[in-house]
Amino acid sequence: MFDAKSGQVSTFYITTPIYYINDLPHIGSYYTTLVADVLARWNRLKGIKTFFLTGLDENSIKTVKAAKEKKYPNIQKYADEMAKQWLDTWKRLNVSFDGFVRTTDEKHKKNVINFFAKVYEKGDIYKGKYSGLYCEGCETFLTESELEKGLCPIHKKKPKEIIEENYFFKLSKYQKALLEHIEKNPDFIYPETRKNEVVSLLKQGLRDVSISRPDLEWGIEFPIDKKHKFWVWFDALINYLSQEDYWPGINLIGKDILRIHATIWPAMLLSAGYPLPKQIVAHGFLTVNGRKISKSLGNAIDPIKISEKYGLDSLRYFLLRETPFGEDGDFSEKALINRTNGELADQLGNLINRVLVLVEKNFNGEIPFHENNDLEGASVAILREMEEDIEKFKFNEALNHILFLVAEANKYIDEKKPWTLKDEDLADVLYNLLECIRFIALMLNPFMPGTSEKILRQLGIDKFSYKDFRWGLLKMGTKIKREEILFKKVEHG
Ligand code: MSP
Repeated sequence: MFDAKSGQVSTFYITTPIYYINDLPHIGSYYTTLVADVLARWNRLKGIKTFFLTGLDENSIKTVKAAKEKKYPNIQKYADEMAKQWLDTWKRLNVSFDGFVRTTDEKHKKNVINFFAKVYEKGDIYKGKYSGLYCEGCETFLTESELEKGLCPIHKKKPKEIIEENYFFKLSKYQKALLEHIEKNPDFIYPETRKNEVVSLLKQGLRDVSISRPDLEWGIEFPIDKKHKFWVWFDALINYLSQEDYWPGINLIGKDILRIHATIWPAMLLSAGYPLPKQIVAHGFLTVNGRKISKSLGNAIDPIKISEKYGLDSLRYFLLRETPFGEDGDFSEKALINRTNGELADQLGNLINRVLVLVEKNFNGEIPFHENNDLEGASVAILREMEEDIEKFKFNEALNHILFLVAEANKYIDEKKPWTLKDEDLADVLYNLLECIRFIALMLNPFMPGTSEKILRQLGIDKFSYKDFRWGLLKMGTKIKREEILFKKVEHG
């Protein structure tokens, strides 16, 4: 992304959390992945060298439990099978990741051991006794004050009481440095409400964390004591460094894992001598009837099923348009259908169909001549708004702006009444509409890549880049190729 401080266009590196493999992706994990996909596509469109990393967190107790429940005699085989299915799901959902980490890969294990060596040399590891309440859903210790009626607030389960000998990481040592970093870099944790939460947490003080667990059957061996395995979070966070050439990048996460990402992770990096993330960006939860969607609550929604039923781009559009980034948002098929019918079919699809039919009827399907540029101002202004929104993660507003331009174009048709015009006058109106549609399609590209490509193809364009955001590039005489309607209206089921 453009770095205002240095005035340089740098590389763009974005990561998602690496997901647990006790189940397949649901719409919540898809949401994070989708946001990363939009940002990666936007930066690629701008010609910025981009890396989008995602992957799987396989060394968890959950993996062992799921493998046993599903009667896999061999845990690694289970992990391999799940990895295949996760990869397949992301491919079917057209997720444009560049790298995929699996924490059972040898390469990752080596990275963890090397990283640990640096923290150990720094003198930040010691052995101690620990007693605490462990939530296997979160894979972390919780404090009494974090519980709600004795239960983990996210997983609604009673945490296990554990007393054991562990190796500790001196997290408390980094409290001051972290607070200072946040003060000096006000956008380090985004959005602001999340930053404030982290600041108040840091001000209360940090306790050292145990980073090993004894007698686990699954996980990465702890190099200085073979009876222990790495605590899964210590191992998992290090995946973000696997693209060392690109680091530091943006860590995109859900708010459920902000605490660990904003305290332990940067402290680990300071200890081992790595730069801190450019930004830690946390979004809200997707809910169904107000409850967080999650595997453990059994209310998961399969993004593949939804995309097959309503179209992938309708799903993408809905998830990004419905809820302001950072806030919680409720998922319902009814709301998705309303947006698809009202905004995508009636407004966007209809605009394109109307204009292309008129060009076919009046100009033999060829892009006509033009003299005026009625819609240039609006198109360029909306592009600027949309760019600003997307750089600030305001995807709903970006889409709102694009939809506003669609509405402007439809209004222009209603005002100009092209069916009453002839020759130059008609050519002018249609050229303006076609150029405006080209802008709309380009702007939609990171959000709805399939739809964007379909529209551009109908205008005779199959290669495009950010440089094409210039008015007047459509050439007179180019043949348009009208295809079937973009969005069909869906009946409420
Ligand atoms: N394995 C850890 C992350 C380690 S990263 C070094 C983990 N995995 S998870 O499978 O539980 O995924 C958590 C992430 O999935 C959340 O932070 C969020 O990005 C996404 N979501 C899971 N449920 C979600 C919703 N209901 N709504 C939105 N996002 C959700 O935690």
